[in-house]
Amino acid sequence: MKICCIGAGYVGGPTMAMIALKCPDITVTVVDMNAARIAAWNSGQLPIYEPGLDDVVKQARGKNLFFSTDVAGEIKQADIIFVAVNTPTKTYGVGKGRAADLTFIESVARTIAEHAESDKIIVEKSTIPVKTADTIKTILASNTKGLKFSVLSNPEFLAEGTAVRDLLNPDRVLIGGERTPEGDQAVATLAGVYARWVPRANIITTNLWSSELSKLVANAFLAQRISSINSISALCEATGADVDEVAHAIGKDSRIGPKFLKSSVGFGGSCFQKDILNLAYLCESFGLPEVAAYWTSVVSINDWQKHRFVAHIGRELFNTVADKKIAVLGFAFKKDTNDTRESAAINVCRDLLAERALVSVYDPKVPAEEIRRDVLGTGSTGSPQGAADNPRLTVAKDAYEACAGAHAIAIVTEWDEFKTLDYAKIFAGMPKPACLFDGRNIVDLAALRKIGFKASGIGKPNAHRREGDTA
Ligand code: UDX
Ligand code: UDX
Repeated sequence: MKICCIGAGYVGGPTMAMIALKCPDITVTVVDMNAARIAAWNSGQLPIYEPGLDDVVKQARGKNLFFSTDVAGEIKQADIIFVAVNTPTKTYGVGKGRAADLTFIESVARTIAEHAESDKIIVEKSTIPVKTADTIKTILASNTKGLKFSVLSNPEFLAEGTAVRDLLNPDRVLIGGERTPEGDQAVATLAGVYARWVPRANIITTNLWSSELSKLVANAFLAQRISSINSISALCEATGADVDEVAHAIGKDSRIGPKFLKSSVGFGGSCFQKDILNLAYLCESFGLPEVAAYWTSVVSINDWQKHRFVAHIGRELFNTVADKKIAVLGFAFKKDTNDTRESAAINVCRDLLAERALVSVYDPKVPAEEIRRDVLGTGSTGSPQGAADNPRLTVAKDAYEACAGAHAIAIVTEWDEFKTLDYAKIFAGMPKPACLFDGRNIVDLAALRKIGFKASGIGKPNAHRREGDTA
């Protein structure tokens, strides 16, 4: 059997590497139109940072796992084609800012129709609006070669930073297909691939639309839990309750459960915001504005939480951060990834720069150029590094350099190394009062206060709370 995956990104790369590792008799080729990305997958420096991924790729690459730019050639040979191209939020026209942009999905469907020479199973891996399979089917059906295509939905639930673990032991694999004999056969074929390492009981099969919708709903529910606890974090700060204690207490209720209740500066990542906006847009399209409003509020609370964090920093620094150095520790949207898409750090840096702070960022995995591009956008003047210029934004080589001479430290990503920094040494190099704002609740505030920091967390009883701090 031959599998081809179109899209060598955060989803396509790791997922195919795992399939190749677990199914040595299946040849798996990942193709992408981005030649630089394919070259990186074929090199010693993979294009994405993901714990454990190097090992998986090294074991299979060159044996039954290949990375190639020959999209047409691989389509011809494959029995199963996974579609894992990106589906960003539309930036233009109808549904701008909310609907999913399906340009890539459509163009991939057309490419498959053009180059296929035999019957194939097409698997939607990308997150897409409900009913997208219809579009793909219609485009494929318009091929004039009399070929048969079965379209399946097989959404990916891996989280970045834990992708290898999630792929090895998924809570479930979801496969949606048409309830016809051909559809059932296609579902059985794909289920057979996963069954090499996933218990049958964890492989769920549904109709196409349930599967497509379940992905959006899973992400919406996960994000909703974070916005719920983040809304409570503000109330905790106002009342003296501790949000981690509240989360622990409610999480012990087996009906609520302990996961995804970690209050933070706000969720980021390529999925949550995009998928909720997409879900809300779908609801509106189907005449359900109340449902759309309900889910949109999850994103609104998240935006508010990001701004609230910076507003708090401003108040603690005597209502002005202008010309004060602020160290931003962490830039990725979560630890153990180099992905910065929708990272809260982008908003934090922009808000601080808007107040004319001198922002010094450090992240262990995100390159300086990426940080500059994300915060400042691409420069129209063709600055040497491709990003717009703002000398107030600098990128430090380590946390100590970022913090040297800073009035305040803002922890924005929960990288483990920030838990064990020599904070006494850092404190000694900062003007006083030296502030620390823990946007992830990972450091020991009491210990930092002992050193002399004015330290505060999210949803924590803050020793230095001022009047009006909750707004
Ligand atoms: C995934 C999912 O597939 C997406 O639906 C989800 O919403 C976000 O996560 P991801 O793997 O993170 O996407 O995207 P990305 O890292 O951007 O990778 C997509 C790849 O597809 C890129 O390398 C891009 O070059 C490639 N691509 C895109 C093609 O090869 N052909 C196209 O026509 C479009
Ligand atoms: C998410 C889903 O978890 C995954 O199933 C889906 O396939 C893709 O979207 P991902 O975005 O990679 O995965 O990471 P996730 O661990 O869900 O974190 C998303 C954001 O929420 C991060 O910014 C993270 O820091 C934040 N978060 C997560 C919290 O603020 N608190 C929590 O309790 C959990």
